[in-house]
Amino acid sequence: MGGKLIVFEGVEGCGKTSQIQLCSEWLESLGVTVVVTREPGGTELGLHLRRLLLEKSEDKPFPAGRYANGSAQGEPVAEVTELLLYAADRSQHVEQELKLNLAAGKYILCDRYTDSTIAYQGYGRGLNMSLINQLNNIATGGLESDLTIWLDVDVEVGLARKLSDQVGLDRIEQETIAFHRRVQQGYAQIAASHPSRIVRVDGSLSKEAVQEVIQGILRVHLHLAR
Ligand code: TMP
Repeated sequence: MGGKLIVFEGVEGCGKTSQIQLCSEWLESLGVTVVVTREPGGTELGLHLRRLLLEKSEDKPFPAGRYANGSAQGEPVAEVTELLLYAADRSQHVEQELKLNLAAGKYILCDRYTDSTIAYQGYGRGLNMSLINQLNNIATGGLESDLTIWLDVDVEVGLARKLSDQVGLDRIEQETIAFHRRVQQGYAQIAASHPSRIVRVDGSLSKEAVQEVIQGILRVHLHLAR
């Protein structure tokens, strides 16, 4: 039997990571073999790319004043460079992790996939959508999720959750509120265009309530007995 690729998407602080953890425990209790992974950073190479993509300005290797462009924060990541790095991470992830686990019949719970690039680099940054679609196709070889759960929370609620984590915001979390709102609107548009693949879940509910809704959706979509 082939496996399933189940993706979780949403803005910063939408609760993907804890919902994936709860889902993984629940599916394992049903005897399903589960693999949890993420983008960026689901492979060894991807972990390096994740660090390059998300490091905060204070994580930069040189102190302020040591950068060639004279800035205290280091060289900014150009938008197309960012897009290509996410595509490189995805290509490696699909080849090294997703295809093999799907072929082995496993259920993959993946924290972000192609829709993140459409939402963040497409709607957020305003990069060319047909370029993004082409890169997504090249990176995935056409592999789509069987189901995508979009955890929908207000941008302000999500960012407040991130701020209360006390770990500091990463490079993308530090973007303007207007950027995060465009990403949010992007998810709404993507979900409207793919109603059979993407299911919206109200992420503002309690963790337990959100999990209950997700389990109900997975039971129906994956034809699970319990
Ligand atoms: P997260 O794994 O903690 O959600 O962080 C990943 C960050 O990378 C998040 O800010 C969204 C961003 N991202 C993109 O901008 N484009 C992409 O294609 C992916 C996978 C993530």
